[in-house]
Amino acid sequence: MIREILKFGDPLLRKSSSEVTCFDEELNVLLDDMYETMRNADGIGLAAPQIGVLKRVIVIETSEETGKLELINPVITAMWGKQFEAEGCLSLVGKRGIVKRPMHVKLKAYDRHGNLHRYHGKNLLARAFCHEVDHLNGILYEDKVLEWVDNED
Ligand code: NI
Repeated sequence: MIREILKFGDPLLRKSSSEVTCFDEELNVLLDDMYETMRNADGIGLAAPQIGVLKRVIVIETSEETGKLELINPVITAMWGKQFEAEGCLSLVGKRGIVKRPMHVKLKAYDRHGNLHRYHGKNLLARAFCHEVDHLNGILYEDKVLEWVDNED
């Protein structure tokens, strides 16, 4: 089911989300709805608080190569390098801004079955990891934008 995406200014986007403790059917439904909502909006990442659910759950699909990633209780374990690229957010349609992010991000997270996985994101995937984990802590990329850019591409 496609859920409504909250927009910047909504106080729920500024809350810190709680860890998932129950890997149950409700979590499966949440993840499936998040994928559907993200795809419907042509996004590459969505965090649960963006649909008003204050849980540490993220879906990311930056390329066919990496496929669909579901990240539950994600923790960044290492980051290095830097990049300055334009970022957008499904909660702020029609805008993009340059944000400084690490070039490499290592992250561990659970899947819906409660299995722990480790990921190494580079370039776009590293940016997506940082952007979406920020959402879980009530941080929005507008806080970090160095320069707003045209939304042409
Ligand atoms: Ni976002």
